[in-house]
Amino acid sequence: MPREWDAATYDRVADPQARWGAEVIGRVDPAGVTRVLDAGCGTGRVTERLLERLPDAACVALDASEQMLAEAGRRLTRFGGRVTFVCADLRDPLPLDRPVDAIVSTATFHWVPDHAGLFRRLAQALRPGGQLVAQYGGVGNIASVVRALAEIGDPLPGRWTYPTPEEERRRLAAAGFVDVQVWLHPEPTAFEPGGPFETFLATVILREHLALLPEPERAGFVRAVAARLPGACLDYVRLNVVARRA
Ligand SMILES: C[S@@+](CC[C@H](N)C(=O)[O-])C[C@H]1O[C@@H](n2cnc3c(N)ncnc32)[C@H](O)[C@@H]1O
Repeated sequence: MPREWDAATYDRVADPQARWGAEVIGRVDPAGVTRVLDAGCGTGRVTERLLERLPDAACVALDASEQMLAEAGRRLTRFGGRVTFVCADLRDPLPLDRPVDAIVSTATFHWVPDHAGLFRRLAQALRPGGQLVAQYGGVGNIASVVRALAEIGDPLPGRWTYPTPEEERRRLAAAGFVDVQVWLHPEPTAFEPGGPFETFLATVILREHLALLPEPERAGFVRAVAARLPGACLDYVRLNVVARRA
C-alpha cells in the first residue's frame, strides 16, 4: 500500500478532520505533560492546536508519509525546536528515545491493522500514568462508502479497521491501560457537491483504491462511488478513546 498522501490537497480539504481534532485536543489533561506524541500528525493542523494547548510541552510529530511530514514542517515552523518530526510506521515499535507523557492521535488508527498490537506499542511509548487520547473511525464508519465499494467490486475489502467500543476496551485493558473510556458518536458530514466532494473522496478515502488503478480510470472510479452515495454527505462514525497507562 502506498504510504504517501497528496499532502497539499489533504491540507486544503481536511476541514472536518481539523474540526474534530480540535475537540479531541480539548480532552488532553495538561497536568504533567512535558512531552507529547502526535501519532499520525498528517499536515500538522491538529498538532498546531495541540502545541497551543500545551505551551510548555515538546511534541513528537510522527507520520509514515514524508509528504505529510514536509507539509507539517512548513506549518509548524513557528514552534521551532519544540517539535521533532519522526517518519515511522505505527505497525512497528515506535522509535522514540524516551517515553512521552501523552499520546494524541486523530483520524489515523483506522488505517492501522491489529489494534491489540498497536495499543501494546503505544503503552511501551508512554510513561506510567501517561495519557492516550485518540479518535478514529468506529464500527459503521462510512458504511455507505463501504456498501458502494462492495457494489462496484472493492479491490481492498476490509481495508479499514472500524472496531466496536467493546473490542477496543478489551484490547486497551490487555495492553495495560486503565481508566479506559471508549465511546462512539455519529458525525454525518456534508460537502460541496460535485468536484469538491470527489476531490475529498479521492484524497482522503479512496487514496489506496485509486493507487491500484491506471491514472485514466481513477476519476471514473471516484464518480462511480459518489453516484452510489446518498448525496454529498458521509456517514462518519467516530470512536473516541481516553485512557491512562497503568
Ligand atoms: C487522515 S490523516 C490524519 C492526519 C491528522 N491527524 C488529522 O487529523 O488531520 C491520517 C494520517 O495517518 C498517517 N498514517 C496512516 N497509517 C499510518 C501508519 N501505519 N503509521 C504512521 N502513520 C500512518 C497517514 O500518513 C496520514 O498522515
